[in-house]
Amino acid sequence: MVFRALEQTAVSSKWILALVMSLGVGGIGLAAEAAHVVTAHEVAAHKARMDAAEELKLDLQDALDAHDAKAFSAPTRKLLPLLRQEQAYWRKTGVAEAIALGEQNGQAADALLVHADAGDFEAASTAYGDLLRSCAACHDAHPEAQVQVAQQPTRTRPAGTGRAGG
Ligand code: HEC
Repeated sequence: MVFRALEQTAVSSKWILALVMSLGVGGIGLAAEAAHVVTAHEVAAHKARMDAAEELKLDLQDALDAHDAKAFSAPTRKLLPLLRQEQAYWRKTGVAEAIALGEQNGQAADALLVHADAGDFEAASTAYGDLLRSCAACHDAHPEAQVQVAQQPTRTRPAGTGRAGG
């Protein structure tokens, strides 16, 4: 009797395992697909971050013109979280080239902050140059052409229940 019960448990757990596995595989498939579609709202937020980055770039340019290493620090501190969000955005789009260039952009900003805080103008200006090059490299690659934007949800009505022309 006890043996029977165990055997039944083994069978049903096998079924449960199969069910969980198939759901899991399906779930991974859906997640991978969803990861390559962004919403129109996310695209707009990305563009707003780009505009904010451009403003900060002007402050960084002032630091360069003034030959003032420390003046790079404050704008770079504001830029870094924007670039982190940009990296997350590009990972979500799945556009490989932009993901790589976004990483380079962030690394240049990290280096810029280290050298700015250390008061090393030569190293900071080199990092600033690297930063600008990776901004430009990404723009030249036009990754936006590969971004899939989710369709806005459209109102649908079950067939045969709507008024004609409504
Ligand atoms: C990983 C890619 C990438 C990097 C790195 C990048 N950008 Fe952009 N940027 C874009 C794309 C793509 C667009 C075009 C907008 C879109 O997505 O349709 C853009 C647009 C812009 C715009 C116009 C925004 C608008 O309203 O359309 C500005 C300004 C800008 N970027 C500044 C910068 C600055 C400054 C940096 C460096 C600190 C930078 N970007 C780094 C990809 C990048």
